[in-house]
Amino acid sequence: MSERNEADIIPRAGVVGWPVAHSRSPVIHGHWLARYGLKGRYDRIAVDPAEAEAFFAGFRDSGLVGANVTVPHKEVAARACDVLDPLAQSLSAVNTLWVENGLLHGTNTDVTGFLANLDAEAPGWDAGGGPAVVLGAGGAARAVVFGLAARGLAPIHVVNRTRARAEAVAALAKGRDGHSVGHAHGFDDLPQLLSRARVLVNTTSLGMAGSGPLDIDLSPLPHDALVSDIVYVPLETPLLAAARMRGNPVAGGLGMLLHQAAPGFARWFGVFPEVDDALYTAVIATLPPEAGGR
Ligand code: ATR
Repeated sequence: MSERNEADIIPRAGVVGWPVAHSRSPVIHGHWLARYGLKGRYDRIAVDPAEAEAFFAGFRDSGLVGANVTVPHKEVAARACDVLDPLAQSLSAVNTLWVENGLLHGTNTDVTGFLANLDAEAPGWDAGGGPAVVLGAGGAARAVVFGLAARGLAPIHVVNRTRARAEAVAALAKGRDGHSVGHAHGFDDLPQLLSRARVLVNTTSLGMAGSGPLDIDLSPLPHDALVSDIVYVPLETPLLAAARMRGNPVAGGLGMLLHQAAPGFARWFGVFPEVDDALYTAVIATLPPEAGGR
């Protein structure tokens, strides 16, 4: 068989980012390809920000069936799409692309990945409604706030060092009737916000290996409030460890990464894959021991 035919038969996808060497996505998709006995390839694709616009403009003809998109390309990839679903439109950012009938489609599975992880780790977590407190106002915060609002949590308090960014993210929080349920705050307001919170999510990079600590006092937080962190290196951040020690339910960040990967895999390779213990084990094996790797 010629190389060209071989390439046509074996669907190829990948993760596009800069840098992308640290990405665990190839481990996740490689695990599922093996588990379901499917033909396919999933590679790391490093794209320099200066080349990103041209890369996504040429994506339809690249031979790839689709891709995950990670930092810093989620917005530029969204602009290159012919078709964006409503979620990706609202966030102006995509993390999953696929080519269908010659058109480039994009969606954002960070939202459903975040929610699916909480549903798996803390079933019924949303039954009590809000208030929710979200720390940080970057790209990840946008997906988290959107997801919490979609589940009807209200009010949603966005707490960020830079107030203007908190305001932009809080504006994404719309209740089911379309009214705003978001509020922007600085860290000074945190003790009072924590005292009534039902859900607390860290979306800042603080607590990640190599970053500074997330130095917050959990003592005002009710003991039954759910605490989640999107950081997954280390697997158990100091925030999660402190929350678990005082008896709060917790949900770690690795699950969001695993769950956001599933819809893309289904699009490209034809099977909706399961996030199970074997997948956790495969990805945890890639983490350094000091980050909880085994
Ligand atoms: P991402 O898109 O991955 O969420 P980001 O856009 O770089 O990443 O956002 C990182 C978040 O961590 C921001 O909310 C940032 O606060 P600012 O908006 O004020 O920059 C927050 N963050 C990073 N370092 C911080 C620090 N030392 N103290 C407080 N917040 C910090």
